[in-house]
Amino acid sequence: MNKPTITTESGRYFLTDRIREEVDFRTTPQSRGVRPPPIQKPVPPDSVIIELPGQESWGIPPCDLHTAIANRESHRQFTPEPLSLEELAFLLWATQGVREEIHEAAVLRTVPSAGCRHPFETYLAVQRVQNFVPGIYQYLPLDNAIVFVRDVENLPAHLTAATHGQRFTGQAAVTFLWTAIPERTEWRYAEASYKVIALDAGHVCQNLYLACEAIGAGTCAIAAYNQTLVDSLLGVDGDEEFCVYIAPVGKVSRHP
Ligand SMILES: Cc1cc2nc3c(=O)[nH]c(=O)nc-3n(C[C@H](O)[C@H](O)[C@H](O)COP(=O)(O)O)c2cc1C
Repeated sequence: MNKPTITTESGRYFLTDRIREEVDFRTTPQSRGVRPPPIQKPVPPDSVIIELPGQESWGIPPCDLHTAIANRESHRQFTPEPLSLEELAFLLWATQGVREEIHEAAVLRTVPSAGCRHPFETYLAVQRVQNFVPGIYQYLPLDNAIVFVRDVENLPAHLTAATHGQRFTGQAAVTFLWTAIPERTEWRYAEASYKVIALDAGHVCQNLYLACEAIGAGTCAIAAYNQTLVDSLLGVDGDEEFCVYIAPVGKVSRHP
């Protein structure tokens, strides 16, 4: 990806919706009849897939929405307690879970997304989840499963370095790392995709904050990270897919 010149003017312009007046939507891949890119990144055939428990078996206690919103805050200290598989399944569902598959271009999730394009993949840097070998995993929302991506020697040090020395990332039970696959949104919106991708990411992370409140956990949004280190940790190319947002999660001492 070539480095463009970003100025105050171009940055502020990006935040407006002027681009929509410039894009010729008759020429987008969708308008030309091109099939949409897959809603879930295909995994290699010999992958180790771990099925996640279904909602009916979670046993997550009900959480009052008013209380969750009132208590939401950024946490940068975590207890050594691990997360259970059910709790991880709940957090994944809350952030990117599938509500309904209508057709290949319309898969509804627990968060909104401009044009229902859902451009994100969820990677997990697992350190303390019950019965899990530490390492990098990827969520498969259509299958309610996760796939083992790779083992990483000294994962805490890699996470800390990849977030510019923010040590609490290395101390999390599990760190959510969201990548964007811009082509999914470009298929419908072309150059008008980028602001809405950034907007989409906010909903995902806010749902993580609120879901954490229900399980005595906490998180902290992280937008300050080393792009090259994070992308190479996840094994993504940094061009067609790259990290856009990070959120370390762990149990916190103030339980709901
Ligand atoms: C887009 C975004 C990026 C952030 N990046 C970081 C970060 O890199 N490191 C950090 O410690 N906190 C980060 N934060 C957390 C903010 O510092 C925090 O939300 C703010 O101080 C308000 O505190 P509260 O979340 O407890 O209300 C980020 C928050 C947002 C929304």
